[in-house]
Amino acid sequence: MPSLKPLKKAVLPVAGLGTRFLPATKALAKEMLPVVDKPLIQYAVEEARAAGIEQFCFITGRGKTAIVEHFDVAYELEKTLSERGKEKELAQLRAEAMEPGSIVTVRQQVPMGLGHAIWCARHFIQDDPFAILLPDDLMLCDVSCTKQLADAYRETGGNVVAIEEVPRERVNRYGVLDVEKDMGRLVSVKGLVEKPPVEKAPSNLTIIGRYVLMPEVIGHLSKMERGAGGEVQLTDSMAKLIGAQPFHGVRYEGRRFDCGDKAGFLEAQIAFALKREDMAGAVRDFLARYR
Ligand code: UTP
Repeated sequence: MPSLKPLKKAVLPVAGLGTRFLPATKALAKEMLPVVDKPLIQYAVEEARAAGIEQFCFITGRGKTAIVEHFDVAYELEKTLSERGKEKELAQLRAEAMEPGSIVTVRQQVPMGLGHAIWCARHFIQDDPFAILLPDDLMLCDVSCTKQLADAYRETGGNVVAIEEVPRERVNRYGVLDVEKDMGRLVSVKGLVEKPPVEKAPSNLTIIGRYVLMPEVIGHLSKMERGAGGEVQLTDSMAKLIGAQPFHGVRYEGRRFDCGDKAGFLEAQIAFALKREDMAGAVRDFLARYR
């Protein structure tokens, strides 16, 4: 295999309207909703950094400025924490600080779909491979899910997407794989279809919100063809890469919480709190009261 370009870039689309979370998302970006004490967007950025990502592009829209503020240096806050001797909190803020210039934002003026959001990042992507993280898919993994994809990319080259099996009757909510060869952790792909009717779905292996894609996908996206739901679907353009480039699904190790959905979001709170030494005991105690 010719030497691969290193994976250093990630695109994080955050321009969606978050209608399933109204009224919470009327003035607040969905990606700023906290799970325990950290906003969803920060989990995604930390996961990407753990995979060696150094350059970030947020695809934003109206009402999303808090996301950009969140990654800025908060001088007044740091000064106040310092004056009050809150060294632990100060150290945490500083440890999480982003390298200057590592985040760019691009505005998607109209949310025309995930594919359109990714196309908006074309000048950032240029000729490089890039990861995509949808922050409302929150991952609880021992090894960063994006790192699992980056490792697979180094193994196979080309495009890799994180996949999971879902019950047949739910495949119509996802991008679905048409499997060429199932090798266990890795699956080679011969086709993709977005939100197929249950009876027409080629498998029950579905794509979750983690991808490593080659820049050639932008050429397909630029045709702006509308797919399922009248949106410019990323899946449709990814499907056009198959045959021209390797395309694999990766059965990631870990758990996914759909935090764009109210029940998934609540479950994530519990799962993440139970992982925290400072909270697990209290959470177990109060959960016992709801049996
Ligand atoms: P969703 O399908 O969850 O849509 O988008 P949404 O608008 O965020 O939420 P609901 O369904 O109305 O409740 C999946 C991801 O794609 C981004 C979203 O921000 C989210 O990360 N997205 C979607 C965009 O950035 N632009 C779009 O045009 C559509």
